Amino acid sequence: MMGALVNRIRADVRRIAERGARLARLARLARDDEGASGMSSTEERRRPGGMPRLVPLTGLPPCDDDELRARTERFRDDLSRRRSVRQFSSRPVPSDVIDGCLRAAVSAPSGANRQPWHFVVVTSPEIKKRLRQAAEAEERAFYRGRAPDDWLDALAPLGTDEHKPFLEEAPCLIVVFAALHGVDPDGHKIKHYYVHESVGIATGMLITALHQAGLASLTHTPSPMRFLNAILDRPPHEHPFLILVVGHPAPGARVPDITRKPFDDVVSHR
Ligand SMILES: Cc1cc2nc3c(=O)[nH]c(=O)nc-3n(C[C@H](O)[C@H](O)[C@H](O)COP(=O)(O)O)c2cc1C
Repeated sequence: MMGALVNRIRADVRRIAERGARLARLARLARDDEGASGMSSTEERRRPGGMPRLVPLTGLPPCDDDELRARTERFRDDLSRRRSVRQFSSRPVPSDVIDGCLRAAVSAPSGANRQPWHFVVVTSPEIKKRLRQAAEAEERAFYRGRAPDDWLDALAPLGTDEHKPFLEEAPCLIVVFAALHGVDPDGHKIKHYYVHESVGIATGMLITALHQAGLASLTHTPSPMRFLNAILDRPPHEHPFLILVVGHPAPGARVPDITRKPFDDVVSHR
């Protein structure tokens, strides 16, 4: 009799402990989700949405170490010649080349594959003029007062100021927006994850694609940039990320004489 009671209590205690562990696991998963990882790392989390459909990996055929080295060398050599250009020629750039570079950019990885970006390609002289006027108004306020001295000191070697003629002179501006959330056809919000990381990666790929195509670019970030939503008619949940000024360099274009940090200061191996 006594023995049966003890066994029942033991079973109850075990059940309560198991339920506690299950709740703790669920709470941890919910926290992970809120932490915007968006990645369901366990089978348990994947099952409710169904199992993923997997297809064979193509496009990365085996490659021996010498070929890896040769490709790395070629790419590094080419990419290390990229510079931010601030003097552009008015020579037009074919729109299919810009679209090709954008197609490379939108193949970027993104948090939970939400692709939280939008790119507006601006070639209209009238819109470029409005963008220049609005950017220069912000930049005037920045350079004549809003910028702290340490920021102005950091910018001094680059020789930048409030004048942004390249916004009109360059044939193409690509304005990058970061979509803080998506919207489904019924108007409901779709959660996005790691928005800024994702948009930064896609933008880096875009800059790389433009460079390898033989085009110059400048990353431009007038501050603040909200005027971009108004002029380009983008919704408020899309935050302006930056403007890429794109085209051919003006004949005789010059760039600031700057250096990179030593490799060993920015890379370590363990
Ligand atoms: C996020 C970001 C914002 C930038 N904003 C500006 C800008 O508003 N105006 C500008 O002239 N250059 C801008 N730059 C360009 C940097 O000044 C430039 O990348 C840096 O000086 C290194 O020079 P390089 O690109 O020629 O190697 C920006 C670059 C980055 C990555």
